[in-house]
Amino acid sequence: MGAENGITRMKNMLQDLETLYHLVFKRMYGKTLQERLNSFYRGQESHYDSFRERLLSGRADLFNLVTLKPGSIWVDMGGGTGASFEALGTKMTMLKKAYVVDLCEPLLEMAQQRKKRNGWDNMEIIHADALSFILPGNEQADVLSFTYSLTMIPEWYAAIDRAAAMLKPGGCCAACDFFIGNPFRITEKQNPHNWTTRLFWRVWFETDGVFPSTDHVPYLSRRFEVQYYRQDRAKLPYLPLASAPYYLFVGIKPE
Ligand SMILES: C[S@@+](CC[C@H](N)C(=O)[O-])C[C@H]1O[C@@H](n2cnc3c(N)ncnc32)[C@H](O)[C@@H]1O
Repeated sequence: MGAENGITRMKNMLQDLETLYHLVFKRMYGKTLQERLNSFYRGQESHYDSFRERLLSGRADLFNLVTLKPGSIWVDMGGGTGASFEALGTKMTMLKKAYVVDLCEPLLEMAQQRKKRNGWDNMEIIHADALSFILPGNEQADVLSFTYSLTMIPEWYAAIDRAAAMLKPGGCCAACDFFIGNPFRITEKQNPHNWTTRLFWRVWFETDGVFPSTDHVPYLSRRFEVQYYRQDRAKLPYLPLASAPYYLFVGIKPE
């Protein structure tokens, strides 16, 4: 039993090392965003979930903040491997459709495996750009989510506009992501960060194509009536002294 545990621990550490190698040394290449995302995630896709579940700590909390009605349509923009839907547990069966929309093929392959493994017949996995995706038959969604995807979408404001257009009046937009607080915007919800924090996290995340912004929450708050807001810090695997600022936002599209 002890030997088995040791072997499992060793295997997990080797997987983490492979993921860390990708995060630190593998650069994105390609002319289009899709090529760049594919080049970055290809090779780390099978370990993506085990590593990111320790890094992207807001996802499960966010999904559980959404009040679900039976028969709802939920679209997860930049949904990657579809891992966020695991947080719904048995509530997943309440959804008429759960869409995972993403540009990155290696991560969508993992989403396909997840759908099969869980027997989620209501899940649709869509290879598309969050900026231009529309639901079949121009249907409108009840819930739209972005979990750590806005920081990776260069024109994130256009993705929020698309989300607002796709939501039913009264529908819910839920987002969580890393951010940096603007010290000059003292009237907004987000607490400011000092310059070392702002600089450190910008540089740290930029190497992986992640751009923490001061502006997600102010912009989301203009498009949706704020229902819930919280900011927190996430511990990073293997870096006990560092914790990255992130926010949770839930808003309602005005009727
Ligand atoms: C940090 S990952 C987060 C994935 C997932 N939401 C999660 O919480 O694990 C960011 C995701 O955004 C996707 N992405 C970036 N730009 C996109 C775009 N324009 N359209 C769709 N997906 C995009 C990436 O491919 C990637 O899967």
